[in-house]
Amino acid sequence: MKIIIIGATGTIGRAVVDLLAPDHDIVKVGFSGGDFQVNLAAKDSIRKLFKDVGKFDAIISAAGLAKFGSLDSLEDEDYLLGLTNKLMGQVNLVRVGLNHINDNGSFTLTSGVLSQNPMPGSASISMVNAGIEGFVRAAALEIQRNIRVNVVSPIWVEETLKALGMDGVEGMPAEQVAFAYKESVEGQRSGEVLDVRNFV
Ligand SMILES: NC(=O)c1ccc[n+]([C@@H]2O[C@H](COP(=O)([O-])OP(=O)(O)OC[C@H]3O[C@@H](n4cnc5c(N)ncnc54)[C@H](OP(=O)(O)O)[C@@H]3O)[C@@H](O)[C@H]2O)c1
Repeated sequence: MKIIIIGATGTIGRAVVDLLAPDHDIVKVGFSGGDFQVNLAAKDSIRKLFKDVGKFDAIISAAGLAKFGSLDSLEDEDYLLGLTNKLMGQVNLVRVGLNHINDNGSFTLTSGVLSQNPMPGSASISMVNAGIEGFVRAAALEIQRNIRVNVVSPIWVEETLKALGMDGVEGMPAEQVAFAYKESVEGQRSGEVLDVRNFV
């Protein structure tokens, strides 16, 4: 399969590339790195990416920005970051990508554990993650041509916790997180939220 991976240069994206590359033709996309670049927050940039890359069989998004911060510190623009980048950026990958994806193809987006298990400071991120999950469940009911759409919900990644100076032991190594993305692309599921803990 020809698989576009958005966020291919990131912590999760790199592990997904490593897992899928032996069996598939991978197009690596980053914001500044990768074979191609895209800005999720700009629909024109998404349109250009699909025009440049051409037809494909699957797209994985392991990207998306949203702001962590306490309820009384989050400003309008902090909420807007998550809404325009992580939420509508990934929604637009599906909306625009439908014009370029082959029959029987698949979309795999990324949310995160904070939609189901919030913590103080996660109001904006929890809202965005839940929005992505709601979109995927509903979009799957309408998408034609046997095209599937799922969302992977990672827990904290071990490498990310370590990079933040925290104990990584509570996290999952990125190479294990990648299994849920593989299942979404190579399996037959659609309209599902794939909790990474179920695929290791
Ligand atoms: N890591 C975790 O613990 C964790 C847990 C739960 C959910 N998640 C979610 O998983 C996703 C990936 O996380 P990560 O930790 O792997 O991220 P990361 O290491 O920070 O990597 C981010 C990736 O996204 C790209 N990117 C940055 N801004 C972009 C933009 N505006 N448009 C398109 N691409 C952009 C980066 O490209 P460049 O390298 O070229 O800048 C990079 O490839 C995010 O949605 C995150 O919320 C992560």
